[in-house]
Amino acid sequence: MNLRNSFIETYGEVEKPIYSFFSPGRVNLIGEHIDYNGGYVLPVAINLGIYGVMSLRDDKIIRLKSMDFSNEVIIDLEKEIKYEAKDGWGNYAKGVMKFLKEDGYSLKGCNILIKGNLPNGAGLSSSAALEVLIAYMLLYPILQPESINKKYIALLGQRVENKFIGVNSGIMDQFVVANSKKDHALLLDTQNLSYENIPCYLNGYILIVMNTNKRRELASSEYNKRRKECENALETINKAKNNKVSNLCQCTLDDLKYLKDEIEIKRARHVITENQRVIKAVELLKKDDIKGFAKLLIQSHDSLKYDYEVTGLELDTIVEESLKTQGCVGARMTGAGFGGCAIAVVEKNKVESFIQNVSAAYFNKTNIKASFYTTSIESGVRILEN
Ligand code: GLA
Repeated sequence: MNLRNSFIETYGEVEKPIYSFFSPGRVNLIGEHIDYNGGYVLPVAINLGIYGVMSLRDDKIIRLKSMDFSNEVIIDLEKEIKYEAKDGWGNYAKGVMKFLKEDGYSLKGCNILIKGNLPNGAGLSSSAALEVLIAYMLLYPILQPESINKKYIALLGQRVENKFIGVNSGIMDQFVVANSKKDHALLLDTQNLSYENIPCYLNGYILIVMNTNKRRELASSEYNKRRKECENALETINKAKNNKVSNLCQCTLDDLKYLKDEIEIKRARHVITENQRVIKAVELLKKDDIKGFAKLLIQSHDSLKYDYEVTGLELDTIVEESLKTQGCVGARMTGAGFGGCAIAVVEKNKVESFIQNVSAAYFNKTNIKASFYTTSIESGVRILEN
């Protein structure tokens, strides 16, 4: 593996054992913007992700470099770890170190080199992949691999986003990146973090990831805003129902009558119907009804477009063009929205013409070149054989 050679060149390390790891990105099949509303989500981990190579040091220093960015981040584990804007991507790793220390882990000093093949800012969870990767790498030398608790790592990653980076994100991304199983989607109940691995072979069809190449600029501010709108809607419903519901996904469409604010009605309607779609989608996947499953993706996109309002010109265009193209049975935006990626379910023997046609039509309308990936569904964070 190339990264190992680059690691040796970068750190001049030849004597100590060198360990290699991989942490995947994710796409969410369905269940969007409901992981912070106590709903079900159905993401998969993909074959694109971040590789990390590490060797241990004899001191308490962590040196961290990436082949994708020029800055080096040096952390002294004996000092307080603080967010610093100049560290850019390194802050995700620093957050992980800070909270692992806070949780009582006596981390070892090490040299780390990472390299990703996930497009950045595309909504494939490069930040969750990085958080989970660093947590796994740092715990690896102090715990047996079997005793590294993947649920803990996922929660730690979320804590970094919420408390260190300042994005109020849910648990979906880190959870699937840590716990996924090859060729399975992960049905996660975000109320209690119980989950089920759902076989996902999409017989006769291929899952295509389409990057609009429009960066998700608004994502974090609008994301926090949506979350607040959902909290407000829940509060109003609870006032009317004497605090009977603990999250918006437990509400029914009938409960919308308690809401007066037009925005809150739309947000809550998306949340409630999306949760129902996930449950339906799993039933259909289990029956191998791929067309039925794909139809739900279309409904999900419409709900995210009209009710949750997180799509935008580029995502809407790529989805519309996909749906017009032969061989495509369903498509939707995936992730936080406002740019980033969409997915399409396409008949296996039409994939090439699908990509050509959608690419041309999308460029025609937006003047942006989209990227297409035919991905496979992979397992979560892991150590690689050298
Ligand atoms: C981002 C967040 C997730 C989830 C999705 C939307 O990816 O990190 O927790 O809320 O957006 O479904």
